[in-house]
Amino acid sequence: MSKGKLITFEGGDGSGKTTQLSRTVAWLKAQGKDVLQTFEPGDTPLGKALRHILLSGEFVPVAQTELLLFLADRAQHVREVIQPALDAGKWVVCDRYSDSTLAYQLAGRKLTDNAELRAMLKWAECGVSPDATIWLDLSVEDAAIRMASRQAGGEAANRLDNEKQDFHQSVYAAFDKIAKENPERVQRINANQDIDAVQADIQRVLSAL
Ligand code: TYD
Repeated sequence: MSKGKLITFEGGDGSGKTTQLSRTVAWLKAQGKDVLQTFEPGDTPLGKALRHILLSGEFVPVAQTELLLFLADRAQHVREVIQPALDAGKWVVCDRYSDSTLAYQLAGRKLTDNAELRAMLKWAECGVSPDATIWLDLSVEDAAIRMASRQAGGEAANRLDNEKQDFHQSVYAAFDKIAKENPERVQRINANQDIDAVQADIQRVLSAL
């Protein structure tokens, strides 16, 4: 039985997720919590290689391969990093998890969302599901504006960031559906506010939990 808690952060590219996650970790630590900050894909030695295959643009996996590689990364991550930390009583704060696979691979890549694929997603979690999920909700249009200004500032886009608008629309619609279907677990945060206001909302919902 896990003693710690798993909190995942989800959102489209450009939603400010990484900044908000780091600030949330700092806040939890200031509350005296023992926190581990981690991310997917790529936060194990094997995962680092998978991340390169998935995101560098050097390879173009077909949708099935892409899904399997994200799941491979997750299983390795759970067994090697997340589960041991939970067993040690830590709060694990993870940048993306299975909801991203549902949104980017099943919805974005238009793989048939059936019971078999859902079972595979669960299986790859090795028994570890999030206690709470923060979804940073930002429209595709607003996210595109932010991404364009970051890229103009020199930040590199990954292979998935470069997908077309309708891919990102499908990803957004999937997160919206996940939030509606899991109202207890998924906390929708309006990401179209300044950084401090978004962080205040996150702290408010986590305190209530
Ligand atoms: P990353 O550079 O880590 O940044 P961010 O999370 O801020 O976008 O990008 C990870 C990319 O991988 C992102 O485009 C979403 C994608 N992804 C999937 O397509 N499926 C998954 O299961 C996961 C975990 C991520």
